[in-house]
Amino acid sequence: MKDFLDLRDFSKAELINLLSLTKKLATSDKKYLEGKILGLIFEKPSTRTSLSFMVAMKKLGGDSIYFKQNDLQLSRGEPIKDIARVFTRQVDGIAARVYKHKSLEELSENADIPIINALSDLIHPCQILADFYVLKERFEKLRNLTLTYVGDGNNVCNSLITMCSKFGINMNVSCPEGYDPNKKILRDAKKQPGKITIERDPKKAVENADIVYTDVWISMGEESEKEKRLKVFKKYKVNSKLLSNVKSDYIVMHCLPAHRGLEITEKVIESSNSVVWDQAYSRMLTSKALLYHFLK
Ligand code: CP
Ligand code: NVA
Repeated sequence: MKDFLDLRDFSKAELINLLSLTKKLATSDKKYLEGKILGLIFEKPSTRTSLSFMVAMKKLGGDSIYFKQNDLQLSRGEPIKDIARVFTRQVDGIAARVYKHKSLEELSENADIPIINALSDLIHPCQILADFYVLKERFEKLRNLTLTYVGDGNNVCNSLITMCSKFGINMNVSCPEGYDPNKKILRDAKKQPGKITIERDPKKAVENADIVYTDVWISMGEESEKEKRLKVFKKYKVNSKLLSNVKSDYIVMHCLPAHRGLEITEKVIESSNSVVWDQAYSRMLTSKALLYHFLK
């Protein structure tokens, strides 16, 4: 596989290999990517993803160049296929964050270098790979755990569905009607060992959770729906009251950035159950593994 666009393109064994590589490289300072350059093309803002790729590239002895949408002729209508061909001859890989997932596919089809999905409207595979690194470090065994996702059936939720189903984690998705995850991704997950259930009532959904995960109610690109979404998602807040329904020990996850007081409260995100800072740090570790695997 030339690119890292979608977790569905990889077998469980390949994903486990990436996680093992993450562990191996975490303590290594070998400069495996000396002389290599990563191009970062970001149509949307980022803290963790851009930082982690730039730091990881540096740690591996390589270099990176970061472009916001307005820095490129992309903002003036230059076709993605042209940008792909220009970058192909000067850098060794691209990490791209795009509004439309289709843009990544176009980039991939027209570039001979590896393309890494740094988030699209549909999926966020790098985030979920890092989340699973955290889970593997925390839990002896992932199979048969229950992860409850509370909130919008968005890019993060879609990628969690793919990864949980492959690793045999049962996932409850608690989202309001009309904000369900992607249908095709749900269908593909059915062929995998982990069971995915939609449970509209967040209280019921968290009862058996080992992991409670949430993400923003308004993703990048959805700002015009803000007022409507604030009303629709009100019941889907991860707060102490909701978590009092969880029966056993649990951890709380959030990909960040978080909106304290909306999808999660300050108290919960700062509680000892929260592993959000481990998630953010693991982004750098899994970025190292991804860059090594795809660019070396
Ligand atoms: N979680 C995540 O992708 O964060 P950024 O948007 O800051 O990159
Ligand atoms: N769902 C969020 C994730 C941010 C990391 C978004 O797409 O904005």
